[in-house]
Amino acid sequence: MSDSFKAKLEEKIDTLLAPPRKKIRKDGFKKSKVINEVLDKSTMMTLYKMINSGTLHYVNGVIRAGKESVLFWAVDKQGRDIALKIYLVTTSNFKKRASYIIGDPRFSRIKKGTRSMVETWARKEFRNLNQCVQNGIPCVIPITVSSNVLAMEFLGVKGVPTKTLVESVIDYDDYKDAISLILRLYRKARLVHADFSEYNLFKTEKGLIVFDLASAVDIRHPNAKEFLKRDINNITRFFVRRGLTVQNPLNIFARATNEF
Ligand SMILES: Nc1ncnc2c1ncn2[C@@H]1O[C@H](COP(=O)(O)OP(=O)(O)OP(=O)(O)O)[C@@H](O)[C@H]1O
Ligand SMILES: [Mg+2]
Repeated sequence: MSDSFKAKLEEKIDTLLAPPRKKIRKDGFKKSKVINEVLDKSTMMTLYKMINSGTLHYVNGVIRAGKESVLFWAVDKQGRDIALKIYLVTTSNFKKRASYIIGDPRFSRIKKGTRSMVETWARKEFRNLNQCVQNGIPCVIPITVSSNVLAMEFLGVKGVPTKTLVESVIDYDDYKDAISLILRLYRKARLVHADFSEYNLFKTEKGLIVFDLASAVDIRHPNAKEFLKRDINNITRFFVRRGLTVQNPLNIFARATNEF
């Protein structure tokens, strides 16, 4: 990036962070409290780079503000909805994340510092999603990742996300689908989700779609099997609570790993 270009960007960011004068600003952002409070200058720079490179046209609004990430609804040049997952640097849980990165042979070197950990985390989610796509596993389609911002396909209508499994009426097909996802993740994509739950699955007409894959590890991670057991137990508990008759979780673990 040239110096003059950078200066222009910085100037734009300063305007953006200043108190609102108009509701919708001509630079592509609707001013909002969340944008003001959670997005630091460097994240704003990343968003502007995405706008300038054509990934983004404008940012519409917040889908959901979590503790460690904020989901935005944005639109690309062709008018298609996209979802931006912005990982927050300020509330990053460094230690917890490290335990899902160290030991994964795909990420042998990690740099020190919270910001670089958050960026690794965002890249890890992008890489995991790509690994799913390459192996035919139904997941949200990743578009690109830059610093702490992950851009992906938006699942939903007019800024309202598709319902997750926990928000849906469920049946036995959902159970079969969920187990099949765990098995295919392990056996085909060579991944363990490590946060597989009713909160991280969209229920669509075509079946379940998995998302939120930042914590997913390569099956060679020393704790992969422990995470796999936890994933199977968590999702089993959900279906039992909803009144379904389920298989023994140990059998599912055995089917995934061939360990009886
Ligand atoms: N690609 C997407 N399209 C539409 N909505 C999405 C998409 N990805 C995430 N969301 C919405 O944002 C919510 C949070 O996303 P996600 O689970 O990836 O973040 P998270 O890190 O788990 O957040 P939290 O820390 O609050 O649990 C989802 O429940 C969903 O409603
Ligand atoms: Mg989640």
